[in-house]
Amino acid sequence: MSYFEYLAGAVMTFFLLLNAVKADLAADKAVLLALRTAVRGRTLLWNTTESSPCKWVGVQCRNNRISELRLPGMGLTGNLPDNTIGNLTQLVTLSLRFNALSGSLPLDLWSLTNLRNLYLQSNEFSGPIPSFLFSLKNLVRLSLASNNFSGPISSDFSKLNRLGTLYLEKNQLIGEIPNLDFPGLVQFNVSDNLLVGNIPEKLSSMPESAFVGNALCGRPLKSCNGNGTKNKFRFSVGMIAGIIAGSVVVVLAILVVLFLVCRTRRGIKEEVRVYRSSKETEVAKINKEKNAEDEDNLSSTYPGLNEKVGSASGKKLVYFGKTEKGFDLEDLLRASAEVLGKGTFGTAYKAIFDTGMVVAVKRLKEVAVPEKVYREKIEAVGNMNHENLVPLRAYYYSVGENLLVYDYMPMGSLSALLHGNRGAGRTPLNWKTRTAIALGAARGISYIHSQGSTFSHGNIKSSNILLTTSYQACLSDIGLAQLVGPNTSPNRLDGYRAPEVTDARKVSQKGDVYSFGVLLLELLTGKAPTHTFLNEEGVDLPRWVQSIVKEEWTAEVFDVEILKYEHAEEDMVQLLQLAISCSAQYPDKRPPMTEITQKIEELHVSSV
Ligand SMILES: *[C@@H]1O[C@H](CO)[C@@H](O)[C@H](O)[C@H]1NC(C)=O
Ligand SMILES: *[C@@H]1O[C@H](CO)[C@@H](O)[C@H](O)[C@H]1NC(C)=O
Repeated sequence: MSYFEYLAGAVMTFFLLLNAVKADLAADKAVLLALRTAVRGRTLLWNTTESSPCKWVGVQCRNNRISELRLPGMGLTGNLPDNTIGNLTQLVTLSLRFNALSGSLPLDLWSLTNLRNLYLQSNEFSGPIPSFLFSLKNLVRLSLASNNFSGPISSDFSKLNRLGTLYLEKNQLIGEIPNLDFPGLVQFNVSDNLLVGNIPEKLSSMPESAFVGNALCGRPLKSCNGNGTKNKFRFSVGMIAGIIAGSVVVVLAILVVLFLVCRTRRGIKEEVRVYRSSKETEVAKINKEKNAEDEDNLSSTYPGLNEKVGSASGKKLVYFGKTEKGFDLEDLLRASAEVLGKGTFGTAYKAIFDTGMVVAVKRLKEVAVPEKVYREKIEAVGNMNHENLVPLRAYYYSVGENLLVYDYMPMGSLSALLHGNRGAGRTPLNWKTRTAIALGAARGISYIHSQGSTFSHGNIKSSNILLTTSYQACLSDIGLAQLVGPNTSPNRLDGYRAPEVTDARKVSQKGDVYSFGVLLLELLTGKAPTHTFLNEEGVDLPRWVQSIVKEEWTAEVFDVEILKYEHAEEDMVQLLQLAISCSAQYPDKRPPMTEITQKIEELHVSSV
């Protein structure tokens, strides 16, 4: 063979190899595109003009194949299509947690033999746990928790002998726990299923909470009462009567145990049912509130207001600031009003005067403090003056009717900007804007806190951060939490409230810091703390973020909208750390607002 022939051969081999590699990655890309058409959700934001799928959000490659696919909390719905993900044969990690995927798992997943981490928790997958899972011998972490998987737990799980984590909690699994044997198992949970019987010896060192919510017994739970009755009676002379009595006891005990078992099982079903229906009403409530907010309710006046205020002759608006008043109570009542939103403390209107002037009017539901306290507090708020507070221009007080007149903020709330119309062509808030908003809010809160140790905002959340046309953040609803009640009792869905705050009216500066931390997390993750998926899991945003950060998936928590377009990950991680320290469980661990503001200032400077 001549040297040239050899060279030509080598070159050809090289190109053939190159082609093979290319074809594989191209096939992987085709899989992602097929997946995208089959399931709906935020994955649609993949920039498919970027030719290599390795740069797409949630995708990681190794040796020119896709090795990781992580699409957590993307709002994916529908069934996973067949012959799709199973083609990604080099996949090591597949994470589809916190979505709304349903149906059974596609059988072709059996070909993912390199898979080490499979996270499917918090979806709506159903059917028995598929047996192909037991052939994925490399699995180390497996979570099927919080789905609708049914049927028994197979003893074939023991075939997965590298398993370190097995999470099966919150499903509909039935039967007994088989005698599973995993040499390296460290995390295990089967709580909140419909399991019965003995806990196998080998699992008895797991914590109690891994088994609760079933009809299980034995270590670490209470010993199985039923077993005690199986003890043999020792015969002895003169014990016939004893045996008879004993038999009666045994029969009675069995009856009692049976009765209890039936009851607990019914109890579990009942709990599930009650939990479900309470969940449904909550969701319905949120939707209703949302609709009320979304509606552009145009009405010519405030319903029922004219009559009440009109009859209270001689009453006047109290004005703040040196600016020209420009309107009086008459004007206010004559103005055309449009509902801006229904909040915790009342309804907000946009009022347009005949002169064309526009203000925002808040009509409070119910004032819970004496008039003197109310006036003092409102006047303190009205006299505050800072560029990051929505100016309070005037107020009207009477028994049963209370109005607050603010400057109108045309851009609406941060909440609407952050969560409204995702994926439907709205301009995403970029990183620079987000840090600017965080900074504005931090400065506003610092200012309020600087007025004295008893001053706090009391209700920091994204719907109370309003924006000017230049995206300057201004706080609204300052101090109202302490004045308005009592139907503002802490709500499970209010993800901003610090854990130590049990009475909404007892606000504090440390409580503000916590809420601000949640707000930062909201800016970073793009997730509303009141989002139902979080609440259904019973986790709040801080705990959700911490669980992910702890498992070193930090990048997964960030909003794809900022991850995608920017290269500011280091700054994002810094802000994330700040947010986590603000939302610390213990008030003493939370930094003061001045320190927080300074840190955000540094971050913001570097983002400009
Ligand atoms: C997966 O591989 C099979 C067999 O090679 C092929 O028929 C199928 O089209 C592939 N699926 C996708 C979505 O590319
Ligand atoms: C198991 O899951 C339940 C939720 O069903 C949770 O409350 C508990 O803390 C978990 N226990 C362990 C040990 O993971």
